Amino acid sequence: MPLNKETINVVKSNAFQVLERVDDLLSLSNWEKKYLGKKGEVVNITKQVCELNSVERPIIGTLINDLKQELSIAAQKRKQELATRTPSSHSVPPGTFFDLTAPGKRVPLGHLHPITQMRQYAEDIFIRMGFEVHETREVDDDYHNFESLNMPPQHPARDLWDTFWTENGLVCITHTSNMQIRILTSKSIPIRAIIVGRCFRNEALDARHEHTLHQIEGLYVDKNIKLSDLIGTFKKFLDEFYQRDVKIKTQPSHFPFVEPGIEFLLDCSLCQGTGIINKDRCSTCGGNGWIELAGAGMIHPNVLAEAGLDSQKYSGFAWGFGLDRLVMMKYGIEDIRHFNRGDLRFIQQF
Ligand code: DAH
Repeated sequence: MPLNKETINVVKSNAFQVLERVDDLLSLSNWEKKYLGKKGEVVNITKQVCELNSVERPIIGTLINDLKQELSIAAQKRKQELATRTPSSHSVPPGTFFDLTAPGKRVPLGHLHPITQMRQYAEDIFIRMGFEVHETREVDDDYHNFESLNMPPQHPARDLWDTFWTENGLVCITHTSNMQIRILTSKSIPIRAIIVGRCFRNEALDARHEHTLHQIEGLYVDKNIKLSDLIGTFKKFLDEFYQRDVKIKTQPSHFPFVEPGIEFLLDCSLCQGTGIINKDRCSTCGGNGWIELAGAGMIHPNVLAEAGLDSQKYSGFAWGFGLDRLVMMKYGIEDIRHFNRGDLRFIQQF
């Protein structure tokens, strides 16, 4: 990617997003190494300045210097906050005898739910890929959940989602796509965003379907974005998520807010893609060896127009995937309903 103002902004917004999560001095020092260190991001982009022409060079150079200064000040500020924050109940007040040989005490607090752990893990991957993280709202209006997505009232595709409505006509969001129009209208191009949150569906439950599920929506809009960019980006994410070269396939699909629309499928990790476990049909993938992970496609010109974007000039892709299914495939969990059951024997394994 050529070095420009946008590249610098991406480094900056990533650095600040990661810094917000830094919660101790060790992570802070890792952060400093990553962004301000000898082989860090700032030095990386500084090295590319010499490739610019003489007009751009001083402008970009100044921006990088400002960035460096801003990051150093932010790191100092964070360091002070971490050093002066009130000691937690586990730390030892100054002057107190600390018995190194005493048996450890179990902190009776439990740990993060596997979905929360994996949500943070996925977010970190996307942040490294240059995406901004947004959260969805859980109750929304018809316009955002349907109409702005090329589904006017009475559109038959609305039946794809068995929707829970509130008494006053609002929607318990059926997908994180409800945030698309907000992001498309409030951010400037290039837009690279993910939207994370809980969705709700009034549907029959089985090993793959839950009434409450978690989705991660992706949006990328710029000039010349193609379907191959979508496939490459999503595959890269999956490779990182599963830490292997994953096997995926795509097949055509229809969603009113994309054209063309596709679906991503992953080979089922429970039956190793065979569709059969102990001579029985694999109930997780329904016996076909593939599990549907995401709907996706090129953002429909009507949606871009609704956001005031010229589809002759810009194009983009979008996807929405179920995080629960991704986590099931990562850990070989055969039934999605385990996540919400509150059974400690399940939860404690993560
Ligand atoms: N919102 C869709 C669903 O929940 C998934 C989806 C399909 C999201 C295509 C997208 C997309 O962003 O482009 O079923």
